Amino acid sequence: MSQPRITRRDVLPLAAAPAILRAQAPSDVLRVAHVGVGNRGSLLLRSMLKVPGIQVVAVCDILPERADQAAAAVAAAGGNARKWTDFRKMLDEQKDIDAVVLATPDWTHKDFDIAILEVGKHLYAEKPLSLTIDDCKMVAAAAKQAKGTFQVGFQLRHDPNRNASQKFIREGGIGKVLMCHGIRHGADLPRNIPWYFDRTKCGDIVVDQGIHILDQFTWAIGSHPLRVMGSGGTNLFIDDPPGRTVMDNYSLVLEYPGGVRVNFSHHYFDPPGFTGIQERVFGSNGSIEIQNAVWQPRDKKPAVKLDVPNADKDASVMSLAAFVDNVKNGKEPINNAESAMRSTLVPIMATRAIYERRIVTWEEVAG
Ligand SMILES: NC(=O)c1ccc[n+]([C@@H]2O[C@H](COP(=O)([O-])OP(=O)(O)OC[C@H]3O[C@@H](n4cnc5c(N)ncnc54)[C@H](O)[C@@H]3O)[C@@H](O)[C@H]2O)c1
Repeated sequence: MSQPRITRRDVLPLAAAPAILRAQAPSDVLRVAHVGVGNRGSLLLRSMLKVPGIQVVAVCDILPERADQAAAAVAAAGGNARKWTDFRKMLDEQKDIDAVVLATPDWTHKDFDIAILEVGKHLYAEKPLSLTIDDCKMVAAAAKQAKGTFQVGFQLRHDPNRNASQKFIREGGIGKVLMCHGIRHGADLPRNIPWYFDRTKCGDIVVDQGIHILDQFTWAIGSHPLRVMGSGGTNLFIDDPPGRTVMDNYSLVLEYPGGVRVNFSHHYFDPPGFTGIQERVFGSNGSIEIQNAVWQPRDKKPAVKLDVPNADKDASVMSLAAFVDNVKNGKEPINNAESAMRSTLVPIMATRAIYERRIVTWEEVAG
């Protein structure tokens, strides 16, 4: 599979973003259905309700009480959404749906994404693209055939700080990218979402959780990794909750073209406020903390906060606003199927490297 270089187009034109968030003509209204309104899906629904030029016309969850809550949120915002518990029935019977926002568990993505794309709806689907290499390829193929827009939920690409940082990197602000260093240290996964603890359902914590920071680094470097090595396991939350098959810690080294390396540590051992999240990109002219848009030149102090357009805007609202704008104006999302495929294959590669205790190459997953 050929992998395109990431280009300047990948950077959301933030200067244009306020226009996205401003008014649309009523005839322009995009009629949206939200499928899967649990933890993430209910946040996406609340975020979508802040985007002008949309109408949420349907909500769906196999748990009827969640569909009820989602419909109530739509009503509270002045709308009226039909409630469903079967999304295929919804697609068959409710003909006024233009676009679907899908936030069902990871193991459902392949089948649900394909089913929605095949009936011609625009689709904003949560990450990961899918859990296996073959399934990722199937979704990417369906997206290629689809007449609708397909955008994947890498919303941090639309986070104002990170987007401004990535633009700065792309324009050569930190010089040549040399290395990235990432930390995602926190408390353990939420106990009220059982499938998070089953690696067959979530692909383990690299694919389900580490994916966002790895996506940021792959985007900053502008290429996929050539090889990955890693080590991980379960040291603290052993069989906790009972039946747990996901790790609670791992460390990765990823080698990219030109000797650029990513060093990433992810674990759930952090006491409150101890380390948290770091996303640092080191360059020949200085280094940047992309999540804060703060850059430290190599030759002078102090550190500089970048000019961040839309600094007060939330990443998920920005991401959904970009989706609506992409649909209405026929634009290609920065997190399209191709980009989401690369960004999902990286954690799949890493997971394989950890499980099999060996170096895994890009050819193995992308070939
Ligand atoms: N982008 C992000 O930052 C982010 C954050 C959290 C979760 N996610 C992703 O969002 C998705 C959902 O995760 P979550 O944390 O909300 O999990 P969750 O279990 O809280 O929510 C999933 C919802 O989907 C519903 N569902 C399951 N099967 C369904 C079906 N056949 N039809 C309709 N509804 C169905 C469940 O009842 C539940 O309400 C996952 O893909 C996850 O990876 C993304």
